[in-house]
Amino acid sequence: MRRAVAEAPSNIAIVKYWGKRDELLNLPLNDSLSITLDLMVKTEVVFSHDIYRDEVYINGRRLDEGEVSSYAGRVLNFIRKKVGQESLRASIKSWTEFPESAGLASSAAGMAALVWASNDALGLSMDRREMSKLARIGSGSGCRSIYGGFVLWRRGQRGDGEDSYCEQLFPPSHWDLVDVIGMISEAKKKVPSREGMKRVKSAPTLRARLEFVENTLPQLIGSIEKKIEGLFYELIMKHSNSMHAVIMDSWPPLHYLNDISFSVMETIYEYGKAGYTFDAGPNPHIITREGNVGEVEELLKGLGIEKVRLSRVGEGPRTIEVD
Ligand code: ADP
Ligand code: DP6
Repeated sequence: MRRAVAEAPSNIAIVKYWGKRDELLNLPLNDSLSITLDLMVKTEVVFSHDIYRDEVYINGRRLDEGEVSSYAGRVLNFIRKKVGQESLRASIKSWTEFPESAGLASSAAGMAALVWASNDALGLSMDRREMSKLARIGSGSGCRSIYGGFVLWRRGQRGDGEDSYCEQLFPPSHWDLVDVIGMISEAKKKVPSREGMKRVKSAPTLRARLEFVENTLPQLIGSIEKKIEGLFYELIMKHSNSMHAVIMDSWPPLHYLNDISFSVMETIYEYGKAGYTFDAGPNPHIITREGNVGEVEELLKGLGIEKVRLSRVGEGPRTIEVD
């Protein structure tokens, strides 16, 4: 029996991953960029030949076989191949600091924590780049949670995914940004990202979005490097809009934003000292400087959003225990 416990952070994309060129390997259509959050998932993994089938518990809830096989199971299959032990099985127990399925990317943190803990438990000696590729196979956005700070996921070109991995652009201490997350809804989304993303190829505006991402990514990275606040906020808002525009342009019809999300977009744009970004859900992530947090909270309150969660720029995963 080999056991380890690790924790890994969630991340918020500021250049969004939406659309794949390979669904099994989670190879994206475009590069993406994220800020690592300090919202953590803790995972214990036990590997043994005496376990009958892979099992996953999240906050005490046992996942059904289908859920296990399309996320954690993909990571475990890869590990079994790597170590040449086809009968090895895993028991995984995971705890989230934040509500599962509230659009806070619990699967991303979960896959990163699983990969990190498995690397420790089995002594695989993978470096971060290898771990980011493996987390990606579990869930695309998970590859960015292997690093702290500001993280770039290179889409890569190869069919086998060997050049589709992440790297840290800047460490957490680079910029004192805060993510003020408005908790509008903690309900499970009707169409999960994985399903919604499949529809993007039906969107006539997809090509324009891919060009937009390619043309603006260097500028966005430059705005982070030089800490040019106004440009940075403008670009992250445009990138959020760009993803939600192709989502609305997909067929069958799909949208994740609601009336409150749209009011937040107007208010934050007018405020000028923050930028908004939305994942596949209505909850706003307002990125701003530490000194503006109080004002942003007031603005959100004015729109009826009383409950917020704050996150600073977070560190990458860490090992908690290895047996
Ligand atoms: P998302 O994070 O993409 O919004 P969910 O929270 O609904 O999506 O998670 C999608 C799937 O990811 C779950 O059905 C489960 O199989 C897997 N998953 C999520 N969190 C974890 C975790 N902490 N450990 C293992 N698997 C997880
Ligand atoms: C809107 O990483 O959850 O959060 O690779 O199918 O598991 P799979 O999808 P997932 O999609 C994340 C979509 C997003 C944008 C992002 O995080 O870049």
